[in-house]
Amino acid sequence: MTEDLMIEASTISCYDAHATAYDRYQFAAVPGYSVMLDLVGDACKRYLVPKMLAAKAEAKIIDLGCGTGNASLAVLKKCPAKVFLIDGSERMVNVAVEKVSGSYPQSLLGNRIADLSGEDWDNGLADGAFDVVVSTLVLEHLPFPRYKAAIAKCFRLLKPGGWLLGAEGYVEEESDMQEWFFEEMESRRKGLDSELSDYVAGLRNEQETHYYCSKNVKARWWNEAGFERVNMLWQYLCIGLMAGRKPL
Ligand SMILES: C[S@@+](CC[C@H](N)C(=O)[O-])C[C@H]1O[C@@H](n2cnc3c(N)ncnc32)[C@H](O)[C@@H]1O
Repeated sequence: MTEDLMIEASTISCYDAHATAYDRYQFAAVPGYSVMLDLVGDACKRYLVPKMLAAKAEAKIIDLGCGTGNASLAVLKKCPAKVFLIDGSERMVNVAVEKVSGSYPQSLLGNRIADLSGEDWDNGLADGAFDVVVSTLVLEHLPFPRYKAAIAKCFRLLKPGGWLLGAEGYVEEESDMQEWFFEEMESRRKGLDSELSDYVAGLRNEQETHYYCSKNVKARWWNEAGFERVNMLWQYLCIGLMAGRKPL
């Protein structure tokens, strides 16, 4: 295993270890998390519902790095769709499958446990078959060459006119937005049940790896992958939701 793959495996195993505590921690401690998810749902409603009504079809969505399925649930709340779940952690995928199939029994298209930094996470998924790829707080875990490879795959999987919606962390020169965000998160964490929050925070500090750069750099990579109308839909301190469309 190369060093990069070992780092990513450790990020995945970190999430695997706290899959059952994830939702309680995430909703309470991560600033802006619920708003971000709501906006992912709103974006799908805006970009997909009129199109799907006209085509009398149901949208097909990939939730890339689905975790416990919160982005899928936010989308399904606002937009009839079928979702395909992908994550490196088996336990996270199991929780996501249970939640999505419990709330929207007809909406699960499939699921897969796969490392997004590998070459084959998209094996068997047809080119041009999906209306949207949503990916919330995941792509920042990929080293830059793998990030570029992953968005190129997303481009290939999307239909013409399909959208990539990616929420991730950014860092900007001469800005303290990351420090501010993490201070905010730390103060929320301290208000939680300490056993749970110390456990999750400890795992994340020890095992999770992020690769940050600026919004402009990532927007350029999206453009180079072929996406148009690349723009930020929302930002809370260092977390932003970027959208880009595969040309019609
Ligand atoms: C912060 S969680 C976000 C989960 C979910 N999208 C959400 O918004 O709650 C990060 C997720 O990315 C997954 N992940 C991180 N690196 C990965 C990789 N290289 N391949 C597949 N999944 C990965 C983790 O297993 C975890 O479920």
